[in-house]
Amino acid sequence: MNQIRFDGRVAVVTGAGNGLGRDYALELARRGAKVVVNDLGGSASGVGASKDAASRVVEEIRDLGGAAVANTDSVATRAGGAAIVQTALDTWGKIDILISNAGFLRNNRFDDLTDEQIDPIIDVHLKAAFYVGQPAYRAMRAAGYGRILFTGSASAMFGHAWQANYAAGKGAMLGLSNVVALEGSAYGIQSNVILPTASSRLEGEMNTGYLEIPEFAKSLQSADFSASEGRVTPAFNTPLALYLVSEACTATHGVYSANSGRYSRVRICASEGWFAPMGSTPPSVDDIAAHFDQICTLGEYSEPMTPYDEFTAAAKAARKQGVHS
Ligand code: NAI
Repeated sequence: MNQIRFDGRVAVVTGAGNGLGRDYALELARRGAKVVVNDLGGSASGVGASKDAASRVVEEIRDLGGAAVANTDSVATRAGGAAIVQTALDTWGKIDILISNAGFLRNNRFDDLTDEQIDPIIDVHLKAAFYVGQPAYRAMRAAGYGRILFTGSASAMFGHAWQANYAAGKGAMLGLSNVVALEGSAYGIQSNVILPTASSRLEGEMNTGYLEIPEFAKSLQSADFSASEGRVTPAFNTPLALYLVSEACTATHGVYSANSGRYSRVRICASEGWFAPMGSTPPSVDDIAAHFDQICTLGEYSEPMTPYDEFTAAAKAARKQGVHS
């Protein structure tokens, strides 16, 4: 029996016409949610549009006996974001869950990236998170309940050659989600980021993109894929994504990775570091050079949730190192 259910919940999944979003939408519907299936229906590099992608998935859901409605607006415009959320409000009167997932790639080396490769990528990943996220948040805030899942990427958290544009858009999900989680906590709204890994039509864009990937970049991608045999599918990501948007999940302000069936938490942490001698004289560059190993050592580390937490952690380190009582 499925313990985690979404009966009575209304979910919006952007980019749900293919790949990860499609799988999220189907499983949400199987578990009782009513789903707005949004998809612009363009190519893997964000060219063109078609109503087919969204309507196909809506049909699949209805064939399963589930409830779904299609929306084909673009997440990358203010008007599109508003219309996507309005589809949920007009059809079912509310929105409980937003999975912000739509996106595409336009890879190029950092020094060759053009505005046509930068602006649309920032629009579809970063700005879309505002365009869809803000109207969704407003409705959730009024209702006192919400689950938001932004889609980040290991390309941003850990780095991936030829994806500076994409990493900039996806990396921003971390800061955005952290703030939404803090502000939303007063209204029953939780926000997290997923770093998915799945073979999808984006795979073709991944390493070749518009141009052939150079040898140096290949050497940066020397991952051992032997353990991932058959597990780099959307279905291996969906359980984590759905748990994070379920009522059962109380975690917020987090980043979680799904990779080949390994589910993990990804954290930004600060080393205990080196504390400059008390007083108003700043340390010299030479002091930093002399203590750089200590600054870099991640022995004990903290995980600040706000800048204020970081002050607390720094004060603790100062006491430990005897420079502050
Ligand atoms: P996909 O290409 O199979 O699905 C993305 C969907 O988004 C497509 O159906 C596309 O039509 C739709 N879309 C694109 N622009 C849109 C727009 N302006 N408005 C509405 N819909 C739009 O790709 P996949 O792999 O399922 O990716 C889903 C998300 O996960 C993306 O944000 C991607 O960047 C991210 N991601 C994927 C990874 C992977 O390994 N597949 C790894 C890390 C992140």
